[in-house]
Amino acid sequence: MLLTHATLATLVSDQDYGFIRDGAVALKGDKIAWVGPMSEIPKTFRGTEPFDVQGRLVTPGFIDCHSHIVYGGNRAAEFEQRLNGASYQEIAQAGGGIISTVKATRAASEEDLLSTAISRVEAMLAQGVTTLEIKSGYGLDRETELKMLRVARAIGSKCRVSVYTSFLGAHAIPPEYEGQPDTYIDDVCIPTLRAAHDEGLVDAVDGFCEGIAFDAEQIARVFDVARQLNLPIKLHAEQLSNIGGTQLAARYKALSADHLEYATSDDAAALARSGSVAVILPGAFYTLREERPPPIDAFRTHGVPMALATDSNPGSSPMTSLLLAMNMGCTLFRMTPMEALMGVTRNATRALGLSDRGTIQPGARADLAVWQADHPAELSYRIGDTALHCRIFEGAL
Ligand code: NIG
Ligand code: FE
Repeated sequence: MLLTHATLATLVSDQDYGFIRDGAVALKGDKIAWVGPMSEIPKTFRGTEPFDVQGRLVTPGFIDCHSHIVYGGNRAAEFEQRLNGASYQEIAQAGGGIISTVKATRAASEEDLLSTAISRVEAMLAQGVTTLEIKSGYGLDRETELKMLRVARAIGSKCRVSVYTSFLGAHAIPPEYEGQPDTYIDDVCIPTLRAAHDEGLVDAVDGFCEGIAFDAEQIARVFDVARQLNLPIKLHAEQLSNIGGTQLAARYKALSADHLEYATSDDAAALARSGSVAVILPGAFYTLREERPPPIDAFRTHGVPMALATDSNPGSSPMTSLLLAMNMGCTLFRMTPMEALMGVTRNATRALGLSDRGTIQPGARADLAVWQADHPAELSYRIGDTALHCRIFEGAL
């Protein structure tokens, strides 16, 4: 395929979107073979039937690097409770929150989980997503954690999207282990991680380090096992309070630390040293009506790469729109449209430990998004509705 007359945001440079104004991209199989201005198309590609995108903006396919898109039920009733005065933490402590989704996910069949997740995934694909990370963590028992991860893998084979999974057994303490987080970690979480790894279901290991979930020492025991299994690490850190999650993530050279509203400048420095990505999740901040934004300036000062993701989940971020996440990142956190676009492409790639996508350059995967737009700032500027013209996945429309 030869895309012609494209406004290319290649993102190979972080100065000016890596712009090529009247550009062309040649795809060979599932890889990008050549990128450059129309006037320089090499002879070998000139015979190819062109796909003229008529000046439209072309970006790398979008990468949603943090989602909990596989789950049973929904939490609209808790949304209503919160608007009647209850807090997210109060609802969680009363057995709602993550635990109410755990109950619904345990009760759902694999087929139901798959079909409800696919309808949400389709909404993502309609907004240019070509790579999606999916977490477990609403099972909290062996059977259901494995069921969620199998569903995540099935999404990768049934839908035209590249799926990466994260094991999130340390997401919450299930009701049958109430008051016994350590026993849950040792008797359920760690053996389930090993079983899931044996089945080839795990690409990374995540945890929720928070007052309503697990402390840093408990998460560290799970991370030690991840290390033995050679699995990379991610962490939900400093979302609602600062209890040392970011420092823990940095000690384990995590791929990413995510949320980070309560992270400090020292935390940012630690992430810079460990080469971890800060994954910014404005959907959860917005939904929970949080007031303290993540320290974006400190990430900039210390040179921590920032990614942006939907955090798509039934409780704190019931959204599928990465475009809306970009808009929120800009409007709520003062990220620039350039940072927002880098956050859903190049830096999201890094948050998944990948290097073969997220930019438009020779050798990269041929995953592209063609937009009804002519400047990349439009993607962040409209409130969640920039039209996708088409998506190219593994070199095909
Ligand atoms: O990323 N913070 C923890 N986990 C999810 C929320 C899960 C839920 O409320 O169901 C998050 O926001
Ligand atoms: Fe999350």
